[in-house]
Amino acid sequence: MTILEAKNITYKYGVGTPFQITALDDISFTVEKGDMLAIIGHTGSGKSTLIQHFNALLKPASGQILLYGKDINESRDSARYARFKIGLCFQYPEYQLFESTVYKDISFGPMNMGLDKNEIDKRVRTAAEFVGLTDAMLQKSPFDLSGGEKRRAAIAGVMAMEPEILIMDEPAAGLDPRGRRKILELIKAYREKTGRTVIIVSHSMEDVASVAEKILVLNHGKAAMYGTVDEVFSRAEELREMGLNIPQITKIFSELNKYGFNLSKSTYTVKQAEKELLEYFHKGAPGV
Ligand SMILES: Nc1ncnc2c1ncn2[C@@H]1O[C@H](COP(=O)(O)OP(=O)(O)OP(=O)(O)O)[C@@H](O)[C@H]1O
Ligand SMILES: [Mg+2]
Repeated sequence: MTILEAKNITYKYGVGTPFQITALDDISFTVEKGDMLAIIGHTGSGKSTLIQHFNALLKPASGQILLYGKDINESRDSARYARFKIGLCFQYPEYQLFESTVYKDISFGPMNMGLDKNEIDKRVRTAAEFVGLTDAMLQKSPFDLSGGEKRRAAIAGVMAMEPEILIMDEPAAGLDPRGRRKILELIKAYREKTGRTVIIVSHSMEDVASVAEKILVLNHGKAAMYGTVDEVFSRAEELREMGLNIPQITKIFSELNKYGFNLSKSTYTVKQAEKELLEYFHKGAPGV
């Protein structure tokens, strides 16, 4: 079932000034309920501009965003509805933490939804537990948390709104490798546990490969590719021309195949590679 649809979205910044730029150029695609979609593209390709359209923060110059088939910009009510159904977590969301305690920060969204106190409390605690924040941390100032914890607190704030679509802009950006892994695992677990639709923006192919099932590639404001991870990664040459690289491990496997190995072309993560190599050698690879 289609939950979200972008229909011929065009958006320009600086209209009527010498700095006018077309950030999005006739973008169309659909998102099915339960999809785990990654939006990738080089810097300035329009990723952040696009996702800000999904909860009516930006309005398209032309085209429509449909949520369950209804234009979210039809009225103020429909825009408000979209903001509750579609949770948007900005890049570096920890900069938006501002309350005196982590608890208050996570409850900000649910409070704006007008939920009652018990429901808010339940949601805050569930979301905090999910992202691995303890009760003691909830009473701390957000500024006393580590970078990774702050990031997780900010994400919990969006999760606590229980949006039907969770959209995150570069959720792992700027974290150390352990922090990155933790966030990506969390996103995967969230998706598995709730079955909800998740969209992440990233320019790391490795990150995308480890969580996403479908990929939308943006290039200079245009939708250049849209398909499953296999479909998109099989177009390595075109991706390279857009300044994007397929994961390192996929490249290594492709090089090995040139030397007579017969390894899977759809190996995108080190974990998959480990499994594949063990099986390969177990079977008795030619010449081994
Ligand atoms: N507020 C703004 N005013 C003017 N131009 C903008 C504004 N925000 C973005 N742009 C321009 O619009 C284009 C798309 O930017 P956008 O931030 O959506 O790209 P992005 O893919 O998210 O990039 P990044 O990977 O660096 O986050 C770029 O050319 C950018 O310079
Ligand atoms: Mg961006």
